[in-house]
Amino acid sequence: PKRVRIPHLREMKERGERWAMLTAYDMYTAATFDEAGIPVLLIGDSASNNVFGNKTSLLVTVDELLPLVRAVSGAARRALVLADLPFGSYEASPEQCFHTAVRFMKEAGAHAVKLEGGEEMVPQVELLTRSGIPVMAHIGFTPQSEHSLGGYRVQGRGEDAQRLVSEAKALEAAGAFAVLVEMVPEDVGAEITRSISVPTVGIGAGNGCDAQVLVWQDMAGLRTGRLPRFVKQYADVHGVLRDAARDFAAEVAAGTFPAPQHSF
Ligand code: KIV
Ligand code: NA
Repeated sequence: PKRVRIPHLREMKERGERWAMLTAYDMYTAATFDEAGIPVLLIGDSASNNVFGNKTSLLVTVDELLPLVRAVSGAARRALVLADLPFGSYEASPEQCFHTAVRFMKEAGAHAVKLEGGEEMVPQVELLTRSGIPVMAHIGFTPQSEHSLGGYRVQGRGEDAQRLVSEAKALEAAGAFAVLVEMVPEDVGAEITRSISVPTVGIGAGNGCDAQVLVWQDMAGLRTGRLPRFVKQYADVHGVLRDAARDFAAEVAAGTFPAPQHSF
């Protein structure tokens, strides 16, 4: 299969074709989502919660994410492999950002990186772009800033909407190949999408974005308990796995596994 590249995403926007992005953190999920035709796989810093079991995304480190990115880039034959820059690894300066992005590309095979922030990240986005590193921006609710934003809240209500539109424009002008928009009212997601010519990727940003992203464990129903409003579960992987584990344990207890065909 032909590798998905940045210009393809832009062409899809021009043609009005919508596309889906999923997180992936390991080889089997990457290969499976690649087979499903998902064009962009994100190794999110959400691995902090969804792989390592932390309470927030703030705790995950570059060294923890690198092997996950390597696993995904090794398995994805067609998808563009996008690595999230974790909290603390890019904000201080464009140079810090550049060094972290280079690690994800050289040590783990990422094709592009994503970082959180608006106008203040323009110098970072400019340096990466000049250096040949494709960068996706991430605005609206930015989980790495949850403590200064006062928790998980919808952003861009009322007057604040125009700020998000100008941030998106500034990030596009700085060279971002796409802008991820998280938890904003539907009309704001649509207005940002109309205001820039690179794709928007929405999560909790309504149906007007060019693309949509979900965390795979949310999308596939591996995560249980209370879910954010923007999640839709397309499967019950939790139930399937639990039942498989129960059946295995029951057959072992009953002495019916292994059967002759599993034995030498
Ligand atoms: O880390 C992550 O999973 C993200 C989401 C927007 C999908 O950044
Ligand atoms: Na993230």
